Amino acid sequence: MMAVAIIEHGGPMVLKPEERPVPKPGNGEILIQVKAAGVNRPDVAQRKGTYPPPPGASDLPGLEVSGIVAAIGEGVERWRIGDEVTALTPGGGYAEYCLVHGTNALPIPHGFTFTEAAALPETFFTVWHNVFERGGLQSGETLLVHGGSSGIGTTAIQLASQFGATVIATAGSAEKCEACIRLGAARAVNYREEDFVLAVKEATEGRGADVILDMVGGGYVDRNYAAAAMDGRIVQIAFLSGSKTEVDFSKLMVKRLTHTGSTLRPRSVEFKAHIAAELEAKVWPLLAARKIAPVMDTIFPLREAWRAHERMEESSHIGKIVLDVA
Ligand SMILES: NC(=O)c1ccc[n+]([C@@H]2O[C@H](COP(=O)([O-])OP(=O)(O)OC[C@H]3O[C@@H](n4cnc5c(N)ncnc54)[C@H](OP(=O)(O)O)[C@@H]3O)[C@@H](O)[C@H]2O)c1
Repeated sequence: MMAVAIIEHGGPMVLKPEERPVPKPGNGEILIQVKAAGVNRPDVAQRKGTYPPPPGASDLPGLEVSGIVAAIGEGVERWRIGDEVTALTPGGGYAEYCLVHGTNALPIPHGFTFTEAAALPETFFTVWHNVFERGGLQSGETLLVHGGSSGIGTTAIQLASQFGATVIATAGSAEKCEACIRLGAARAVNYREEDFVLAVKEATEGRGADVILDMVGGGYVDRNYAAAAMDGRIVQIAFLSGSKTEVDFSKLMVKRLTHTGSTLRPRSVEFKAHIAAELEAKVWPLLAARKIAPVMDTIFPLREAWRAHERMEESSHIGKIVLDVA
């Protein structure tokens, strides 16, 4: 099969097409003939050498795919050859065939194309766990989401709004802020022009945000504590501005804040199966009804994955970048 590999750590041009053997499904696994693969910021970090694949995972990048079940391992009951699925993978998505655990695959939501379906798993699994399970976001509460126009951000805005929360998003341009508002954010803050702490205080009549989903870290940690409401929950999913910073922890104590975080990729297949089941029950009907949908930025051919990484690193995209495996 053709796959796009990371031949050495470095810039986008280290992503090169090469021939690889088609993998064989083991116990509980299915082989997917990939039709489309989602591109995520962690793929960029893997390419640069700062986010190595967990033990046992493919060395190929790619954390989500959609396609057709081509072979089935022992012990898989749900799927048949020919089924159309979208799935979370621990790696290996940038290829014509990809192995996933059967329980980490979901049916393609009714009416979705393969490219749309490939844009779902990584951000929906991540947002579901971090915003609703770790952050415990409730209807009527306020969510502050940084990087509102990212793949993660566009998913968080839509899901939180659908489940009855008020969303405030931050983003780096007027165009990105407009996109956040169109997706359901009540307020979007261009962080290059406005202080998000003041904006959150203003929008919540001084109360602050109940849950904050943060991928920025650095100087945002202290400011998140300032923007949080009493008993607020701050969930860290990345540190795009660095993981070392100075923080005044007194706000954490006085406001009874919870600061937590997680990474999805190294979690067990059982844990991911639990999120898949939650999403299928609670979110897949919203997708089928088009009440929410992935925001599609650009689609590139798999062979030109380097262009997809270049676009992601320019950071002018809004929503998801996807690779088409024609
Ligand atoms: N923990 C987990 O399980 C998990 C899972 C998936 C993804 N993630 C993380 O979540 C983040 C979003 O992922 P994604 O795939 O949605 O990425 P993405 O679409 O490339 O989004 C990154 C966003 O961050 C904003 N940003 C803010 N400060 C930044 C900085 N200092 N450097 C670069 N970008 C900055 C960018 O836009 P503006 O600055 O213009 O607003 C951009 O919208 C990534 O950091 C990724 O590693 C974590």
